[in-house]
Amino acid sequence: MAKHAFITGITGQDGSYLAEFLLGKGYEIYGLVRRNSNNPMIRLGELNELKKINIIYGNMRDSGSIARALEISKPDEIYNLAAQSDVGISFQCPEEAAEVNYYGLGRLVNEAIRICPHARIYQASTSEMFGKTDPPQNENSLFQPVSPYGQAKLKAHEDYVVGYRNKHGLFICSGFLFNHESPRRGEHFVTRKITISLAKVKLGLQKYFTLGNLGAKRDWGYAKDYVEAMWLMLQRDNPDDFIIATGEMHSVREFTEEAAMFLGMDIEWVGSGAEEKGINRKTKKTIIEINPAYLRPNEVDALKGDFSKAQRILGWEPRTTFKELVRLMTKHDLEHIEREMKLG
Ligand code: NAP
Ligand code: GDD
Repeated sequence: MAKHAFITGITGQDGSYLAEFLLGKGYEIYGLVRRNSNNPMIRLGELNELKKINIIYGNMRDSGSIARALEISKPDEIYNLAAQSDVGISFQCPEEAAEVNYYGLGRLVNEAIRICPHARIYQASTSEMFGKTDPPQNENSLFQPVSPYGQAKLKAHEDYVVGYRNKHGLFICSGFLFNHESPRRGEHFVTRKITISLAKVKLGLQKYFTLGNLGAKRDWGYAKDYVEAMWLMLQRDNPDDFIIATGEMHSVREFTEEAAMFLGMDIEWVGSGAEEKGINRKTKKTIIEINPAYLRPNEVDALKGDFSKAQRILGWEPRTTFKELVRLMTKHDLEHIEREMKLG
């Protein structure tokens, strides 16, 4: 009989890749989808097998809807990917970050203990929880989050992953995933914003775009590689937590230069601070400016994950390099925008 997987956040970047991956393994998929004024299925629409996914309407802020979803789906495995996942926005809406990212997991685990106590649970924890701790970060590194997002995720991990594993014997694992991107990445995250904006500049649809902190460093991997690690964590005999990362670190500036290079644009940086500009060396035109509105009240400066535990115990390692990731995203956005232009 097919195993049942219940995925919260199935309409997001990771949810769509995970659903695809689990369908490939023969799972029956159930996904929690919240009511939206627009079409929430945009990413899932890319899946040929969308009709095979059982959609259940609900919300991480509503215990009754979570209970109903668990009763319908009867899950063997639960993947809790739902979150207010935008770190910058969490400074403006801290209550939402706590409501969805902390209390949301609380609702889910309490209903799971009641309805499906043997289900194995994956919690989408994050490198943002390490905050100000210097890289490289591993499973034993100090958690020092600086954003409402990171603080809510840390409390969720402490209370409901570590806490419920010890107190109730729940099979629950945290994946401390470092930044992972793809052509399905939300358009407000920095990588996707850069690849879309540069493609538009290249095609003459816009003259320039603005960014915030160019010096922030992240460990960027490919989302498609990372969802396999979530599944591997739930296939073990005992629940445990793992860092999932590439072990490489690059700045926002480097990401921008690499994407521009792929599009045949060589960037020269002039000026400093809020006056810094990125200039196309060939045309001498300014294509990037700094907008202080994108600077955060508190910033995580540098993230680089040590994934050796995952490599040793799960047999997992990243398959896509930084250069390949930047290129596949940039190529996708260039081709997509060109197609849209042709369609008028
Ligand atoms: P994403 O694209 O922003 O997707 C978030 C998902 O959560 C969407 O399906 C969203 O639904 C759903 N959601 C938000 N609020 C909800 C609510 N109140 N009730 C039900 N669903 C709700 O995020 P992602 O990049 O796929 O990340 C997946 C998870 O991994 C998140 O928990 C994130 O915090 C965590 N994480 C991500 C990264 C990364 O680099 N991508 C790294 C570490 C951890 P809508 O479609 O309706 O908005
Ligand atoms: N979004 C955004 N927009 N970020 C910018 C910009 C901009 O215009 N300019 C510079 N940045 C910098 C941010 O200040 C941050 O240091 C870095 O680019 C990455 O920002 P995001 O892409 O928004 O990602 P994030 O690292 O804050 O959070 C993502 O990764 C976390 C894992 O570490 C999200 O996916 C989180 O949900 C995830 O937990």
